Amino acid sequence: MTERTINIMHAEPSGPELLDMAICGGTVVTATDTVRCDVGIKDGKVTVLERGLERRAAKTIRADGKLVLPGGIDAHCHLDQQSPTGLRHADDFYSGTRSAAGGGTTTIIPFANQKKGEPLRAAVEAYQARARGRAVVDYAFHMIVSDPNEQVIGQELPSLIREGYTSFKVFMTYDALRLSDRQMLDLLSLSNRERALLMVHAENHDCIEWLTDALKNAGNTEPRFHAVAHSAIAESEATYRAISLAEVAGASVMIVHVSSGRALEEIERAQRRGLRVFAETCPQYLVLTADHLDCCGFEGAKFVCSPPPRKGEDQEALWGGLDRGALQIFSSDHAPYRYDGPTGKKAGGDRVSFDRIVNGVPGLETRLPLLFSRGVQGGRIDLQQFVALTATNPARLYGLYPRKGTIAVGSDADIAIWDPDLDVTITHDRLHDAMDYTPYEGMTVRGWPVVTISRGEIVAEDGEVSTDAGRGLFLLEDRIPGAKTERFAGRLESRKNPLQ
Ligand code: URP
Ligand code: ZN
Ligand code: ZN
Repeated sequence: MTERTINIMHAEPSGPELLDMAICGGTVVTATDTVRCDVGIKDGKVTVLERGLERRAAKTIRADGKLVLPGGIDAHCHLDQQSPTGLRHADDFYSGTRSAAGGGTTTIIPFANQKKGEPLRAAVEAYQARARGRAVVDYAFHMIVSDPNEQVIGQELPSLIREGYTSFKVFMTYDALRLSDRQMLDLLSLSNRERALLMVHAENHDCIEWLTDALKNAGNTEPRFHAVAHSAIAESEATYRAISLAEVAGASVMIVHVSSGRALEEIERAQRRGLRVFAETCPQYLVLTADHLDCCGFEGAKFVCSPPPRKGEDQEALWGGLDRGALQIFSSDHAPYRYDGPTGKKAGGDRVSFDRIVNGVPGLETRLPLLFSRGVQGGRIDLQQFVALTATNPARLYGLYPRKGTIAVGSDADIAIWDPDLDVTITHDRLHDAMDYTPYEGMTVRGWPVVTISRGEIVAEDGEVSTDAGRGLFLLEDRIPGAKTERFAGRLESRKNPLQ
């Protein structure tokens, strides 16, 4: 973006009521309303929503013709983590949160990943140390539990949940991470008792292994076979099993990164039966297909993630799931492994078999523009749904609402001002992450956030991110155990949410 799109003016201070900032002339959108009003900000909070605030603020941002939306919450992203085979992410908490800010996201919830044999608290403390002094927007943590031993189940997890780490992810695949059904039952029962939320990576491990062996025995090793080995049937079977285990344990469950129509069918069947099943999808499953893995020899590795991008018909099914409210959350699953270099897709060389390519695609900065363009501008979802999926529902599900996820008096002034008509061609050089590619290179989107405000401070403007490392706050104290009961009481925002 070369043109200055927002006009900032400074007023003379005029008395005790002076606001720090006013966003004037824009259209404010929340998960329930679209209103023409100004937004007044004082001490990092929204303090007034009414027209005519221009003269009451030390600084005014003109937002005529723009949309004033809650800053995005990316409730599933990975920063400064190591892969199960020891490869390190390109993004740390500085580059990752800069990238978030550039794309209109003002809160992230990445993962503190427990290695087998490691105390869970040590994992949490290690990730706290990685974020401290680095993050430029606010953050909380989910935990990844890979070793639910007696100490973890009996002491560490209950006490961490009570401290405010109220969500954790488990895996049904990957040798270094996967849990047995019995272990999942223990954790689901614990999450129910402690009022936390368990998130599941649902893929059938043995099915993937069996297909992988069969493919390799037949000499099929190119990146495109990753999408064959990680079959949609393996995903839907594990999704059904995770839901069944949650039902046995009487717990809520969140199925993350749903990629296929088949898995979505299992989720909706459970929701129709009244089970507390929540679900997330991500840009790669709406915008990419398995054909991308077959684009160009080993470069198909750039699109290798699990579950993989699937078919056009799966994309259609997921759009329907977003519209119906069956999928409540839209996250990036940003997992930033470079293409080149010793810690990326080519770490094993550019001839390795698909099962040795590190899994994950980046997407923190492109998440919101892709959904806005394909979803809102494409006529598949409306603005309220966009805000619910990208900000309000993640805040409600993970206990950050109403401080985060909406624009209301008393909420943090986390705001993205969007130019809905700005055409942007995505190229990696305009993004702020530390990657060497974007899977969306060359795609054009309509709509991009032109100003991102975090707690009343402009952190990104017209494509430039300018903010200090370490200004991002850790949000532990805001995370309310049992946020799930609120959401099941029917407060998730969705026009057609079957849970309401
Ligand atoms: O391939 C992916 N999705 N990598 C990130 C880790 C995960 O499973 O979410
Ligand atoms: Zn996963
Ligand atoms: Zn992930």
